[in-house]
Amino acid sequence: MNEKKSFYLTTPIYYVNDIPHIGHAYTTIAADAMCRYKRMKGFDVFFLTGTDEHGQKIQQSAAAKGLTPRELADRTVRNFQDLWKALNISNDDFIRTTEERHYKTVQSIFKKLLDQGDIYKGKYEGWYCVPCETYVPESSMGEDKTCPDCKRPLQMMEEESYFFRASKYVGQLLAYYEKNLKGVMPRSRYNEIISFLKGGVRDQSISRTTLKWGIPVPGDDAHVVYVWFDALINYVTACGYLDDRKKFDTFWPEVRHLVGKDIIRFHCVIWPIMLLALGVNPPVSVFAHGWWTVEGEKMSKSKGNVVDPFEMVERYGADPFRYFLLREVPFGLDGDFSESAVVGRINSDLANDLGNLLNRTLQMIDNFFQGSLPASGRRGEREEEIVQRAAAVLAEVDEKIEDFAFDDALKSIWSFISRGNKYIDETMPWKLAKEGKTEELSSVLNTLYDILRLSAMLVAPFIPETAARIWEQLGLDGEPVNMRFDGFSWGDRAPGHTVKKGKVLFPRIDLEEWKKAREAKAPAPAQPASEEPAIVHEELVGIDSFKAVELRVAQILNVEEIPKSKKLYKLTVDLGYEKRTIVSGIKEFFTPDELLHKKIVVVVNLQPAKLCGVESNGMLLAAGDGKKTTLALLTPDKDIPLGSRVS
Ligand code: MSP
Repeated sequence: MNEKKSFYLTTPIYYVNDIPHIGHAYTTIAADAMCRYKRMKGFDVFFLTGTDEHGQKIQQSAAAKGLTPRELADRTVRNFQDLWKALNISNDDFIRTTEERHYKTVQSIFKKLLDQGDIYKGKYEGWYCVPCETYVPESSMGEDKTCPDCKRPLQMMEEESYFFRASKYVGQLLAYYEKNLKGVMPRSRYNEIISFLKGGVRDQSISRTTLKWGIPVPGDDAHVVYVWFDALINYVTACGYLDDRKKFDTFWPEVRHLVGKDIIRFHCVIWPIMLLALGVNPPVSVFAHGWWTVEGEKMSKSKGNVVDPFEMVERYGADPFRYFLLREVPFGLDGDFSESAVVGRINSDLANDLGNLLNRTLQMIDNFFQGSLPASGRRGEREEEIVQRAAAVLAEVDEKIEDFAFDDALKSIWSFISRGNKYIDETMPWKLAKEGKTEELSSVLNTLYDILRLSAMLVAPFIPETAARIWEQLGLDGEPVNMRFDGFSWGDRAPGHTVKKGKVLFPRIDLEEWKKAREAKAPAPAQPASEEPAIVHEELVGIDSFKAVELRVAQILNVEEIPKSKKLYKLTVDLGYEKRTIVSGIKEFFTPDELLHKKIVVVVNLQPAKLCGVESNGMLLAAGDGKKTTLALLTPDKDIPLGSRVS
């Protein structure tokens, strides 16, 4: 009998019309770290990722490239599979929604829900966004009938459609979430979903007659299943819902989904309702992580700032890239990616803290004992404190990882690594050697060796290649990822164990050299078109890029100081249709009274960002003189209703 506890984790399945970018890499790396950790805790893990291959987006993208959707999918799926190899992703399965196992599961689920009356045929008319493959309610579309997400024009569509009776299960789902406070994580997302559910959920249109590239509705070939209804089902397909009951019963009760914040309604509203209708438990947790910007800007192909994970692996290695993404930003919040920040982390955390601890320790074992560890010796007070600290770190890391707080788990691990470096400074083994205090020296070097052995295990889920290199240099067999945390004990080796000092883990990156190399690779600045001296450098943008920025008139209702901030105010602004908080760096230029009741212009579709701990949902427009001596707010020149669009 299998007595191991089970753990099932999924990533979203990625659309095959795009090449993988940092956003895809982020979820998959986080999921990988989680699964590797759980395996080391002795869980029986099932880790799933894959690709979402149907729908209008893929059909259109394929047509534009002169390929069939299947051909496009077959080509691009390899990019994802290759990337997961390059990033050492340890998934147990990779699902493609075009596989037969998935067709069968989707059709069987559709039929079951149809038979039990939870799917019915009706007519759907509405504004549809082709790129997002979703109907947009009139209340949330832009004034010029654009999609609130991608800002592109909507099309009016009418079609016969099958509907899923989602409205029927809202109460049941609310009751489930009331009992399962971690059903949606983090807490802010949980609250968001609860209030959304309380507003009610409409029945969902789940089939299309307007396209061919999808799974046919069983018994009605004029329809294909809507891509999201199809895609969400991947999570049960791969878990054996249709053909492997044992696997399903083992893993489904322990399923957790990792997703980006943009797709939580599908995962925390529609999907659990589909499951409730099927008589299956909703997931234990859905965790929504934040989004990455790149050097302060939204990542987009037109800006040419899309971070290619393959390039990052080639330039810095898989482990530093993995480490950076999970350490830099609390999982759940938005973050900003820059290569200089990656280099900073490599030099300080990886080279300085971890690399040095290994290097110094092995060097001393070589110098004082010819590379062969002496018997452990007696543990003193300091050593006992370190042993206790290790137990506390193990418990802390466990708690943090359980909450998907990867950054905090890493901080805790690094506090232990730093303790190791400090221990060297405190005990000064070279002095002990000089004074002939061999027993004390043996005890110190054995303690350091064990700090490294445990550190290798602790970092293994995050930076598995590095952990394996440390393991090897420690002269240990196997790989740390295959070890169990509960199997770790101090001093667990025969005297005379030999170490194998090897290459430095992370050579420090020289910042000057690095900058020069980056500049050499950067594209040359554009030449001015005419001979006239350019006074202001203006980069041209297309009208679509401009239109993508949604500017509206708002009024300042409240101005609050932010403790500890010299520059920021927390403003409450009224957009007519809603009130929002905006954090703005204008404190040095205005008193609260000068701002109160002013009508201003606000960018309303900016990614939320946390400034000094306050979430800002937009930005006000102001003009500065470039010398930072004065600032003028942009205000409408006559009375105009709040919320009016600026174009
Ligand atoms: N196919 C759907 C998911 C279906 S799951 C049943 C999909 N695919 S996607 O390829 O467009 O996006 C996959 C993931 O990438 C999403 O979780 C999304 O949040 C994430 N990201 C896309 N851009 C991102 C950033 N800039 N930063 C972080 N994650 C981002 O949606």
